[in-house]
Amino acid sequence: MARFLCSLALTCLVCSAQINRYNYDERKIPPYTVVDPLVLANGEKVIDAKAWTERRRPELLAIFADQVYGKTPAAPAALRTSEAITDRKALNGKAIRKQVTIYFTADDAGPQMHLLVYLPAGAKSPSPVFVGLNFNGNHTVNADPGILPGEVWIKDPSAVNNTDNKKMLHLPPDDRTRGINAANWQVEKLLARGYGLATAYYSDIEPDFVGGVQYGVRPALTSDVEDWSALGAWAWGLSRALDYLVADKAIDPRHIALIGHSRLGKAALWAAAQDRRFSLVISNESGKGGASLLKRGFGETTDHLNGAFPHWFCRNYKQYTGHPENLPVDGNELLSLIAPRPLYVASAADDLGSDPKGEFLSAVSASRVYHLLGKKGLGVSQMPPVDQPVMHDVGFHVRTGKHDVTEFDWDQYLNFADLHWGPATTGVAPAPQQNKPGAH
Ligand code: GCU
Repeated sequence: MARFLCSLALTCLVCSAQINRYNYDERKIPPYTVVDPLVLANGEKVIDAKAWTERRRPELLAIFADQVYGKTPAAPAALRTSEAITDRKALNGKAIRKQVTIYFTADDAGPQMHLLVYLPAGAKSPSPVFVGLNFNGNHTVNADPGILPGEVWIKDPSAVNNTDNKKMLHLPPDDRTRGINAANWQVEKLLARGYGLATAYYSDIEPDFVGGVQYGVRPALTSDVEDWSALGAWAWGLSRALDYLVADKAIDPRHIALIGHSRLGKAALWAAAQDRRFSLVISNESGKGGASLLKRGFGETTDHLNGAFPHWFCRNYKQYTGHPENLPVDGNELLSLIAPRPLYVASAADDLGSDPKGEFLSAVSASRVYHLLGKKGLGVSQMPPVDQPVMHDVGFHVRTGKHDVTEFDWDQYLNFADLHWGPATTGVAPAPQQNKPGAH
């Protein structure tokens, strides 16, 4: 027995020595190649838009579903929601606020998501809208006292080594957190520029911890929860939010921008890859497992993704722990699936875990698909200096500062949406456009 325990301890030591969570040294990047998104799995080259749309795009979607994010269940036959609670004079008359519950199954007490929608008051035509999941509850995105606070999941403070939120507590609504993430959402700025915002709490879809799956939508929709994933479920939930938005006459269904930060950026990219109704897509520091190149071994590794967040990816993804080189797809192919729609990839200089250079190179590679589809793509091949955005059909910036969504980021996203859709019309006088590098 003692010998067995001893060899177990030794094996564990060896395992932990092999776990390579992050690499921050360019010199230690193993040789890698950025796989060309325009080559089919059988080696054939994709030479025209037809081959991309009919062969390579479906092939990539199937590989991502099989190996990375899991298989997405079908959308419900019909969208089922509560009656919307509407206030036409929210935010001192600047906004129409709607709050609606989206039921994921036929059961009103089953999994469900609470969607908060702000639209600019007095808009003369259907409004363009940004939609994204939030991390801490709808009531945290603005101090607006009218936002209905919901139940939240928080990290269990009494659990030891709980850095990756392994243990979480389900708590009743807490008014003390109202508006704490307002800087990340910039609601008033969006409204002043003629855009609406729709958001839901990601834990409504699935709470973000290893045991969270049992409280989310996955068990209701599949018998094999590990053949799907938490990221896949969040992506699916985004499409359900979109079902609601495209049915709202006050919203322009051709102008719905999807934004996601970090893990929710990974989910947003996967949602937009599958659901072409998202008309513009923003990856805010989605990093590895999102926009960035995993095979460029800098920043976060598959070892860390699978070790710290085993629920994020599907069962098949586990085989890439220690072996990102075997992945059949990478971030550049995920970005390619957004083409030809406008796509913005944003990084932050201090967010080394996401590997800003890997995010940039990924956007450069995906631009090949934009070119094939008659678009310009990113338009540059050299990484721009910090705080100097590049905007064509693909946009990119690396902002000064840390992993976050800041006012500077939002200024670029609003400019990018204006660039592609024309400035949105508002019922009020347009606010001066701001572009404040370093506003964070
Ligand atoms: C962790 C994780 C990243 C993720 C980030 C986030 O840092 O390692 O992959 O993007 O959390 O979601 O904030």
